[in-house]
Amino acid sequence: MTSPRKTYIIANWKMNFTPGQASLYLQRLSNRVQTSRDLQVILAPSTISLQPLSLQINRRQFKLAAQNFYWRDFGPYTGETAISQIRSFVDYAIVGHSERRYLFHESEQDIAAKVAAAIRNGVTPILCIGETSFERKNGETKSAISAQLHEGLHDISAEDVDKVIIAYEPVWAISSTKNARPAKPADIADAQDLIRKQIARLYGKATAEKISVLYGGSVNADTAAGYLAIPGIDGLLVGDASLVGDSFCSIIEAAKRYQE
Ligand code: 13P
Repeated sequence: MTSPRKTYIIANWKMNFTPGQASLYLQRLSNRVQTSRDLQVILAPSTISLQPLSLQINRRQFKLAAQNFYWRDFGPYTGETAISQIRSFVDYAIVGHSERRYLFHESEQDIAAKVAAAIRNGVTPILCIGETSFERKNGETKSAISAQLHEGLHDISAEDVDKVIIAYEPVWAISSTKNARPAKPADIADAQDLIRKQIARLYGKATAEKISVLYGGSVNADTAAGYLAIPGIDGLLVGDASLVGDSFCSIIEAAKRYQE
């Protein structure tokens, strides 16, 4: 293993699976996958499945992540779920996914408040950042990534920042985007370099070395190993390919081989 940091393989199931289907998936996965101290496999089901899966899951084998939550801890917010209500079920929470930014109009302020709420509640936020196709075409990749990183971490102190995981998710490489295309390893390497340089500027070099940076554009069983080999990339946030047990297991196997 070349990195002192852990490897993360995260299944973002998005709005798929009933609690029953999620439970069956977990049961099958538990029988097939052996994890290690250096490899953290995380499942992010819909909010409705978090409580039942938390009773079923072996937390030494897998952890759970929320896909979304509201940043206030309680109050009159019809239809919302606070991280304080689900924190006993999860260890991680995805924040700022592009589907939330662009389909549900989450602002940078909402995202910063969610990162802070997760930290306040003892949950590790997985902050997703990444440029759109429009921004890339216009030469705004660097400024978009820098702005999202800066805004997302706005309320996070130097003491807490290494509790945040960053996922680089170029929007144009996510399967839900029209005409999505695979990202080139060189582009991902540049993005992770930019992310670490900015963390170094904001919080110092030692923190930049400590923080985990994942890749969250489309990956599958065939491409996972190539993405995991990019220097500075500490794991994958997987969408579509995590819905099929076989392909998700192959991605986990690729991560294990990479660590050997
Ligand atoms: P796909 O793997 O379906 O492209 O989605 C990636 C993603 O959005 C991970 O959060």
